[in-house]
Amino acid sequence: MVSGVHGYVPDFVMDNKEWAKYVDTNDEWIVSRTGIKERRFLKGEDQGSSVMGIEAVKGLLEKTNTAPEEVDLVLCCTVTPDMFFPATANIIANGVGAKNAFGFDLNAACSGFLYGLVTGSQFIETGKYKKVVVVGADKMSSIIDYNNRSTCVLFGDGAAAVMLEPTEEAVGVIDSELQADGVGEPYLHMKAGGSRRPSTHETIDANEHTIHQEGSTVFKFAVTKMADVSAEIVERNQLAPEEISYLVPHQANLRIIDATRRRVGLPVEKVMMNIDRYGNTTNATIPLCLWDYEKKLKKGDNLILAAFGGGFTWGSVYLKW
Ligand code: ACO
Repeated sequence: MVSGVHGYVPDFVMDNKEWAKYVDTNDEWIVSRTGIKERRFLKGEDQGSSVMGIEAVKGLLEKTNTAPEEVDLVLCCTVTPDMFFPATANIIANGVGAKNAFGFDLNAACSGFLYGLVTGSQFIETGKYKKVVVVGADKMSSIIDYNNRSTCVLFGDGAAAVMLEPTEEAVGVIDSELQADGVGEPYLHMKAGGSRRPSTHETIDANEHTIHQEGSTVFKFAVTKMADVSAEIVERNQLAPEEISYLVPHQANLRIIDATRRRVGLPVEKVMMNIDRYGNTTNATIPLCLWDYEKKLKKGDNLILAAFGGGFTWGSVYLKW
């Protein structure tokens, strides 16, 4: 079961008008194409994704009355780890005092949190682990191209975490479908800084340490795949629209969210959304939504989570709250 959720977003607000001072864009274009009005950026030197992850997990432990030493596993879903190694999960575990936990990072781009939720749940299902923290944390401001208006306005920074625990009740991850297709590599990636193209002056001059996205191709894939996989989960579990409490979609683009909503047959009120305030925080979008809507959620609510991201990766999870 998910026994708690908690999030953290940095204080600094970068709104669309502010972006228009740096690149040739405007509020109307960004809102009408994406639904984003503002996003948060983590400022300050030596501040990586772990800083936000630590805040989210600290709040989660407090909320769930968990002593840090009780945590068995910290699983961090991120595309912007503090560094290649050690894992950001280890840095977060150390930062919150989870001295008995093991941890690792998981990268499935924007679908990472769903992959992490399913992976974390399976550790619980083995019966060996009692408290698993899955945290989505991304400092997207560290990898955006500040001169590319097509991508820079889309992303924001944030983190959010859930606690997974065993229960006798039939709640938690009921069903899931995770998919991937490496055909997506050319359309959404960060080319340099890895083993194929290690950092050099040339790669930096060529701006290869920032997000490269062919927006319209990604959009076409995302619209189809996210809607298809969500519909598959709904049909497989024979859920009628009135039995679904909320759709919880990855927050990349309002039009992609809307296409998924229509395919599943839900009214707008049943869709968790905060893209207007945070933009695309990659691995944090879905848990940040759960955090935002936490007070509206009731035990036993049927949630359909859905995501699409670089890879390509995509998936859907039927989560009973
Ligand atoms: N402001 C003003 N104009 C802009 C901006 C901007 N910020 N960005 C692009 N434009 C212009 C383009 O230059 C282009 O102008 P042109 O016709 O003169 O060349 C025009 O707007 C249309 O550009 P498109 O890219 O075709 O715009 P589109 O309607 O496709 O929207 C967008 C672009 C919002 C990026 C869309 O393609 C999209 O949302 N793609 C998917 C993003 C996504 O979901 N990514 C997956 C998750 S990310 C992850 O996994 C890390």
